[in-house]
Amino acid sequence: MLAVFPTMPYQPFMNKEKRISMARHALLEWHGIFGRHDLPWRRDMSPYAVLVSEFMLQQTTVATVAVRFAEWMKIFPTLSDLAAAKEETVLSAWEGLGYYARARRLHAAARKIIERHDGVIPREEIDLLALPGVGAYTAAAVRAFAYNERALVLDTNIIRVLARHANLIAPIDRTGGKESLLRIADAFYPAHNCRTMASALMDLGATLCTSGMPACASCPLKPTCLALQPEQIPKKTARAVTTKQTEFRVWYFYKNRLYLEASLGSRWQGLWILPELGDNKPKGRPLGEITYPITRYRIKMKVYQISLKPHEGLKGFTAAELKKIPIPSPHRRVIEKILRKVAA
Ligand code: ADE
Repeated sequence: MLAVFPTMPYQPFMNKEKRISMARHALLEWHGIFGRHDLPWRRDMSPYAVLVSEFMLQQTTVATVAVRFAEWMKIFPTLSDLAAAKEETVLSAWEGLGYYARARRLHAAARKIIERHDGVIPREEIDLLALPGVGAYTAAAVRAFAYNERALVLDTNIIRVLARHANLIAPIDRTGGKESLLRIADAFYPAHNCRTMASALMDLGATLCTSGMPACASCPLKPTCLALQPEQIPKKTARAVTTKQTEFRVWYFYKNRLYLEASLGSRWQGLWILPELGDNKPKGRPLGEITYPITRYRIKMKVYQISLKPHEGLKGFTAAELKKIPIPSPHRRVIEKILRKVAA
């Protein structure tokens, strides 16, 4: 276990330029030794690999993406392969990563890049921002990681490191705090080689300058860090509490087929889900249930065994077919849970 000491007090004799220059050197030296150089998307920082990994990493952990990224690159090795694929194939390949809108947007972005940019992922911010699913963060990440352009890459890890290093105590979800953060980032990022600096800041945030209890004793930025209470930075205004919800769904298994319906909702459009149960909630125990989070909701899904009349959008699938169609993770998990229970 690493001992944690209070950070060194600010040394007033050091001017800002000197302090930042010292910090950059120490950070890059540390990164050379301790950086996460083996992350799969860092081995090949081609624009396409960067675009795919950044879309995947938007709301999914590094550990999950590390596995899924390699699989994705086998299915769609190039941007043209992705653009030419059917949406259903793309959604199937995305399964387990959640938030399927990201897969749809990545697919749409690939098609737009083929149409508007001759298949070359743009390097200018304005062109990147015009692509579906690309916001300020992803545009900066593509510019820095793929093209080594000067871009202020600011993900949660980097924000934490930079805010602490400058002792930014204004809430970063308010205009004043946001503006200060941009000034801090602009002063910290060097004129050249933002690619390595962004990777180094990210890795420090992920390994030492973590959100709970930072490991300041081992931190290369300790001598230049101004944070007085690093564990309280960055500050944010209070968050909305999560709300619990229950949803009721149907298990209709007939002649060796499980009946699912094509989702019409925006989140899972094009995916197959267990049909929704109307307002007449059955009495008794559900056949299966799971709880899953979506944005600020915790949803309990209860699944009841019920016969259904054929209706549009309803389709039966054999066990083998279920493996091949795109099904959102919570639905797949409960389906597998019930199939195991029924088989037991
Ligand atoms: N390297 C490049 N982008 C990254 C990200 N979003 N998370 C972790 N490592 C990365």
